[in-house]
Amino acid sequence: MARILVRLLLLAAAAAAAAGDGCVNPGCQALGSYLIERNQNLTYIASLFGVADYRTLADYNPRYPNLDFIPAGESVNVSFPCGCHTFPSSSATYLSGFFPHPVVPGDSYGGIARNYNNLTSDAWLARTNFYPENNIPGTNAVVNVTVNCTCGDRSISPDYGFFLSVPLSGQTLDAVAVNYSFSSPEQMGLLRKYNPGMDTATSGVVFIPVKGERF
Ligand SMILES: *[C@@H]1O[C@H](CO)[C@@H](O)[C@H](O)[C@H]1NC(C)=O
Ligand SMILES: *[C@@H]1O[C@H](CO)[C@@H](O)[C@H](O)[C@H]1NC(C)=O
Ligand SMILES: *[C@@H]1O[C@H](CO)[C@@H](O)[C@H](O)[C@H]1NC(C)=O
Ligand SMILES: *[C@@H]1O[C@H](CO)[C@@H](O)[C@H](O)[C@H]1NC(C)=O
Ligand SMILES: *[C@@H]1O[C@H](CO)[C@@H](O)[C@H](O)[C@H]1NC(C)=O
Ligand SMILES: *[C@@H]1O[C@H](CO)[C@@H](O)[C@H](O)[C@H]1NC(C)=O
Repeated sequence: MARILVRLLLLAAAAAAAAGDGCVNPGCQALGSYLIERNQNLTYIASLFGVADYRTLADYNPRYPNLDFIPAGESVNVSFPCGCHTFPSSSATYLSGFFPHPVVPGDSYGGIARNYNNLTSDAWLARTNFYPENNIPGTNAVVNVTVNCTCGDRSISPDYGFFLSVPLSGQTLDAVAVNYSFSSPEQMGLLRKYNPGMDTATSGVVFIPVKGERF
């Protein structure tokens, strides 16, 4: 009986993987690293990620004693739910932060993506929203801002279930890793497993494991 159950679970996992996705896991809480630019305050940044009160982000930003005084050019950690979503063009699924953006006249995927400081891209918004790139309604419409995230993978390591999404913004995974104290060959090997295909990339989002959490 137990064996059959295990078989069924494995089949279900295989089917989910075959759908081409990261949705073997139903969801989790994730973090994103957001580079603060000039004239951006935390109230605004928190609102981008559906966080009602930016002060609740203090727990994720131990390096900043006071969230009201973060110099531009530094990054702030934002927390958001990482959930399973379906592409508009197929039944394949993907894990993502999901932030509804009410469209205002003149909006484009590129313009909306720009607010997210490389945590998403116009190409990714075009893939995850059903409006054609050149035909987003001017009013009464909502674009879903999607930010890549992960909940980990037990087959890589059961020790990590909580991840920080970091935009490469012109840097490599290796360069970013150093900032999060990943350096030994073992640690780098682990990091590469969580970021397949990103060895030489300099754009897109990578995942840094931040702490153990059972899932
Ligand atoms: C924060 O930024 C938003 C949008 O840029 C602005 O409307 C708001 O007045 C700013 N709040 C403070 C306290 O500076
Ligand atoms: C953001 O989270 C990462 C991973 O836990 C941590 O290394 C970094 O110090 C945090 N940033 C701040 C500003 O505390
Ligand atoms: C946004 O997401 C909702 C909920 O999944 C979906 O119903 C809607 O079609 C999506 N909008 C676009 C523009 O893709
Ligand atoms: C976004 O990435 C590009 C390089 O890919 C970089 O030039 C730019 O400064 C980044 N923007 C932010 C806000 O990090
Ligand atoms: C590492 O962190 C420093 C200080 O926050 C920042 O200036 C630098 O751009 C970061 N490097 C990478 C590769 O993220
Ligand atoms: C999000 O992940 C998908 C699948 O790995 C990738 O094709 C896409 O480029 C990523 N988007 C961003 C903005 O990193």
